[in-house]
Amino acid sequence: MVLDGAPAEPDSRESPGGGAPVGTEEVVVLDYGGQYSQLIARRVRECGVFSELLPHHVGAAEVARRRPRGVILSGGPASVYADGAPALDRELLELGVPVLGICYGMQLLARALGGTVEGAEVGEFGRSRLTVRATGRLLAGTPPDQTCWMSHRDTVFAAPPGFAPLAASSASPVAAFESVERGIYGIQFHPEVVHTPYGQQVLENFLGDVCGCARDWSAASVIEDQIARIRAQVGEGRAICGLSGGVDSSVAALLVHRAIGDQLTCVFVDHGLMRKNEGDQVVSAFRDHFKVPLVAVDASDRFLDALRGVSDPETKRKIIGAEFIRVFEEEAAKLEGARYLVQGTLYSDVIESGGGTGAATIKSHHNVGGLPEDLRFELVEPLRALFKDEVRAVGAELGLPERLVWRQPFPGPGLAIRIVGGEVTRERLDVLRDADSILQEEIRRAGLYRELWQSFCVLPDIRTVGVQGDERTYGSVIAIRAVTSDDAMTADWARLPYDLLEQISLRMINEIRAVGRVVLDITSKPPGTIEWE
Ligand code: XMP
Repeated sequence: MVLDGAPAEPDSRESPGGGAPVGTEEVVVLDYGGQYSQLIARRVRECGVFSELLPHHVGAAEVARRRPRGVILSGGPASVYADGAPALDRELLELGVPVLGICYGMQLLARALGGTVEGAEVGEFGRSRLTVRATGRLLAGTPPDQTCWMSHRDTVFAAPPGFAPLAASSASPVAAFESVERGIYGIQFHPEVVHTPYGQQVLENFLGDVCGCARDWSAASVIEDQIARIRAQVGEGRAICGLSGGVDSSVAALLVHRAIGDQLTCVFVDHGLMRKNEGDQVVSAFRDHFKVPLVAVDASDRFLDALRGVSDPETKRKIIGAEFIRVFEEEAAKLEGARYLVQGTLYSDVIESGGGTGAATIKSHHNVGGLPEDLRFELVEPLRALFKDEVRAVGAELGLPERLVWRQPFPGPGLAIRIVGGEVTRERLDVLRDADSILQEEIRRAGLYRELWQSFCVLPDIRTVGVQGDERTYGSVIAIRAVTSDDAMTADWARLPYDLLEQISLRMINEIRAVGRVVLDITSKPPGTIEWE
């Protein structure tokens, strides 16, 4: 750990996420394409050990450069027998650090070391009963009978010579093995998913007892290290940061401000498509509370003018993206000498954009349309090593208001893509904003805000007949969309309590004159998407 104020030591290791803070222990997770690989790295970090996810093909030398305390081989979709299936780099076993293979990773180890792996008639997918014959070191502290989560067709029928088989399930004669002497361990089940109740214990055994990690890493512990790195990178230079009101750009801006103070200027472009009071919250948190130099631009007229007469979703997105870049560039040009651009790129963005190379990538899906590549800035990305939940922890540690720390994801084009099938007008935005504000208020009051991935309203361009008092009405429809999700790739519609829905519907119709009907979207993703357009 580098102390505040001390210069950062140069770190020779090539690290997509900026690497472990100097002096921090690390466990490398090699990704063989498994659906839970990111989750393994997150769980390792939850055990207090810094972890990076690297593509399996980086090779043993690249892994060795990180001087890890242990290596975990992830699961993967291939059969170890398939043509072109990712192979085991045998040199990984010569690094002198413990290796844990999970699922496909275990099968690779079994096959390479002389065990028997074969394609089974039936696969084993989902919950399984695990019978532990001997806990050994890896399964220490777990009961003889337990549930675990399996997802495989190839099966280990015999452990490699010299290895102790530890456990079996009905479909897996060898569901765990170990050789303490060789420091090699394998489990067929997935310890990283919640459906394996003793999974975290198994990971803790590996990280603590087997690898001897100190387990003192936490997301908050990166703050001082990042501050030193930012100072080393920016020196006396000036930096600029586009604030969106989301947690990523907010935390990135706060960290950089801690590091270089008023050498940072934040730019907040209010495109008029934000939710109620959102712009004010950003301005009051950053300018008034944290005293961060902030340029807030009210560009709502420009955006609305540009959107006049447009209803096609992709055209809206393009217009908003292009306008955003124009406004941002104009403001950036006014800040003489700003050479650095702060971005809230996260570790999952780094991994998804190919990771590994350490290349600076403009985060295209983060802000409205992203920023053009020819912006002549050097990027400062203090969150490149962190997962979303860790960024929230850092935000909380830095004193970011709860509302900003826990804000649900909000699309860059904002409310414009929630006015569906019609033109985006100020009047429609006001109706949608009022409805959305009631929804958020009631969901927060019910204590459900953090449980939902997203909750919002949609205003389709239709009107429906109603009756209020003795009058017939012809009002707008508000659709409620609330979903649970882990990563927005898949989502389930949230089962909101009926009483809550009733309260929301009553309030929307009573308090917003233009609204005549409230409906609930009960579509999951797939087949639907989260947004309506
Ligand atoms: P869908 O609707 O594809 O959304 O299921 C997945 C996630 O992406 C967000 N989203 C966007 N975010 N610009 C953004 O910055 C966009 O144009 C955009 N469209 C969808 C959506 O809110 C959800 O979190």
